[in-house]
Amino acid sequence: MTNQINGKQTAADIVASVKTSASHLLASNGLMTGLAVVIVGDDPASHTYIGAKGRVAKECGFQSIQHTLPEATDQETLEHLIRQLNEDTTVHGILVQLPLPMHLDSDRVIQLIDPDKDADGLHILNAGKLAIGDLKSGLLPCTPAGAMVLIRQIHGADLSGKTAVVVGRSNLFGKPMGQMLLYANAIVTMAHSRTSDLSSICATADILTVAVGQPEMVRATWVKPGATVIDVGINRVSAPERGANGSRLVGDVAFDEVARVAGSITPVPGGIGPMTIAMLMANTITAACRVAGVEGQLSDSTS
Ligand code: GUN
Repeated sequence: MTNQINGKQTAADIVASVKTSASHLLASNGLMTGLAVVIVGDDPASHTYIGAKGRVAKECGFQSIQHTLPEATDQETLEHLIRQLNEDTTVHGILVQLPLPMHLDSDRVIQLIDPDKDADGLHILNAGKLAIGDLKSGLLPCTPAGAMVLIRQIHGADLSGKTAVVVGRSNLFGKPMGQMLLYANAIVTMAHSRTSDLSSICATADILTVAVGQPEMVRATWVKPGATVIDVGINRVSAPERGANGSRLVGDVAFDEVARVAGSITPVPGGIGPMTIAMLMANTITAACRVAGVEGQLSDSTS
């Protein structure tokens, strides 16, 4: 399919660039970039994501440390670990995989992360910088930053006159995505689960981003012909054709039918997923470069 956006390839290019930066940082400053990932509990999807993040971190030449804590971990133990990682000078990026088990207060944990090591860009200091239009001095949330790289490849840096619809208003994706599109001069509509006539609103979009966790919710009739469609959903659905317990991954967009209408569309898997991981590596090298007092070398692809 010609209009399929190759997130895998762009992610591989970013990872290659991070790897080069990491080896320069090691050679010229003796600094080995360190990423610590923390996972609590047994959620298989989260373990898959964390495994991929650790693998790519190693590919970048980082020291990658995974802290796997049992489901029953209490708040105090988790917070103690975060404080230790904050103080550990060999760690430049910290990521706590979400969602955390229900009994834990995710927000308190995220706000405890040193904002300079906040590889996910979720700390209020980083979120606040983005909210006031400072896209340079903090760290940006990985998934919308990755989506922005793909959008820029198609439309250029200036989205003046383009209509963007963001479906979903999470702190992880929708809110920061809307802000990034706004700073790129798009006309931005934020839609969400309480929006009425969502399909008509989506149909106004030159750029449509969707992160709602509803398998194949967006249909061809919701999409303006020629639109750029960014699908952030990763939903596992049953696939009896793959055997008794067969399953497959689908996005929040009905790919096959929407691909016939859209100008460009991200596949699931292989679209936004690899970009999120690549941007996590980009944030980590940026954080390490700041510690070393050297310019990060990724500003073109990540800003
Ligand atoms: N869970 C789903 N997406 C993400 C992400 O980008 N970062 C973290 N920490 N957890 C997630």
